[in-house]
Amino acid sequence: MNIVLLGPPGIGKGTAANKLSKKLAIPHISTGDMLRENVAQKTSLGVEAKNYMNKGLLVPDEVVIEMMKERLQKDDCKNGFILDGFPRTINQAEKISEVIKIDKVVNIQASDEVLIDRLSKRKVCSKCGFVYHLVYIKPKKEGICDKCGSELYQRKDDEPKAIKERLKVYRNETEPLIKYYKDKGLIVDVDGSGTPEEEFELILKAVS
Ligand code: AP5
Repeated sequence: MNIVLLGPPGIGKGTAANKLSKKLAIPHISTGDMLRENVAQKTSLGVEAKNYMNKGLLVPDEVVIEMMKERLQKDDCKNGFILDGFPRTINQAEKISEVIKIDKVVNIQASDEVLIDRLSKRKVCSKCGFVYHLVYIKPKKEGICDKCGSELYQRKDDEPKAIKERLKVYRNETEPLIKYYKDKGLIVDVDGSGTPEEEFELILKAVS
């Protein structure tokens, strides 16, 4: 099954997609992770993307669409995939529909208050990328990843100014996708305001 997890920054797309990928044995494809990897490796794509990402703005469509077209042609996508953070504009959705078919779009929602709380207390492992939350998904030892022992850091776009911008960008550019996919009969709404376990169970039910 080809699944899209759609929702605002901090709703828990990455956290749920990671578990769902293991459960359904299909890859979790996050444009945010792919772009951050490019930034870390200082590729030409990463150099271009960095400024947009740090400010909480979308990376230009052409860059992201090309990157995704290439990724989705890989062998591991043959039995399905979970898209996290893509598409994010109507243009991205239209362009990718020329090469792949989406089966289900899970629309996850919660209040801005919940999102800001999650983003401002998120910590990410600098090596394996595992995502923690200082209250809800706490590392055993402060600042250190349980999985690989590396240091945790705060994403640059999780600073208050960038969070505000990302929420605005989501409302203006990504939210119209809800209607776009609703009109195609692909949307399943899910409440994302519960605990990580509750949210995951609802998402699993939505794609089952
Ligand atoms: P991206 O990395 O995709 O960021 P995002 O969509 O803003 O989403 P987040 O990763 O911030 O949140 P999430 O929903 O995955 O939540 P998470 O699971 O981490 O994109 C970053 C940037 O890259 C963009 O701003 C843009 O510049 C660029 N970009 C990416 N894709 C693009 C595209 N298609 N086009 C153009 N530009 C693009 O959870 C958040 C926190 O909450 C964590 O701490 C987690 O532990 C915790 N948590 C999760 N679930 C729960 C729960 N149920 N209860 C309590 N805490 C929870």
